[in-house]
Amino acid sequence: MFLGPPGAGKGTQAERLRDDLGLVHISTGDLLREELAAGTKLGIEAKGFMDAGELVPDAVVIGMIRERLQSGAAAGGVLFDGFPRTDAQARELDSLLADLSLPLDAVLLLEVSRDELVRRLGGRWLCRKCGRSYHEVFSPYAGTPCPKGGQCELYQRDDDRAEAVAKRLDVYERQTAPLVGYYEGHGILRRVDGEGTLDEVYERLEAAIQA
Ligand code: AP5
Repeated sequence: MFLGPPGAGKGTQAERLRDDLGLVHISTGDLLREELAAGTKLGIEAKGFMDAGELVPDAVVIGMIRERLQSGAAAGGVLFDGFPRTDAQARELDSLLADLSLPLDAVLLLEVSRDELVRRLGGRWLCRKCGRSYHEVFSPYAGTPCPKGGQCELYQRDDDRAEAVAKRLDVYERQTAPLVGYYEGHGILRRVDGEGTLDEVYERLEAAIQA
């Protein structure tokens, strides 16, 4: 599981880790954006919370995760990204995994300073087709072919506006950061310095997983 504030690099590193370890990547943010793109009631309701930088209600998010885990998607191993984000979500996940006899092996906490998070989110661009994340300064799109065909179609997320970013960082501190203590108490938390190049951070993540 990846834990860490908005912009810490969870999504970027999760893609590589997923491919290298053969895991299923479950990002609740991506699932909610897929619901929105499909125009579902759930997606439309979630949009208001997301654009404002608030968390979507626990019941909605837990329902999405329950559905995926119970469908057998987790059998070969899962990498959670952006879930859980509240105490209620963490407790529900423990209970779901216990029901499925699946262990939670490690929680990787990506630590990044607030100034750096603001810089990263302000310059983030995403591909509408393949979902890849770029940064206008740190990792600009070089015009390489999109895995989904043609060129990547880049856009900026509505919740990467300055006011929404500030709100998301505050919400993280208030509602999600307490999970650090929760997982420390379970003895599975591994702190990883999330600053540096993408390769440097990835090497630290690999070392933390093997530790
Ligand atoms: P979600 O999509 O999960 O967003 P987030 O947690 O805010 O995380 P981000 O995707 O913004 O950041 P990231 O850590 O993945 O960073 P990234 O790799 O892209 O959630 C969005 C919203 O959905 C929430 O606000 C909430 O409303 C709702 N939601 C989702 N899950 C929920 C839940 N469980 N409960 C309730 N509500 C929920 O990197 C960021 C940028 O930095 C990129 O441009 C990247 O290229 C760049 N970058 C990455 N690493 C580096 C590096 N080492 N050096 C330089 N640049 C880097």
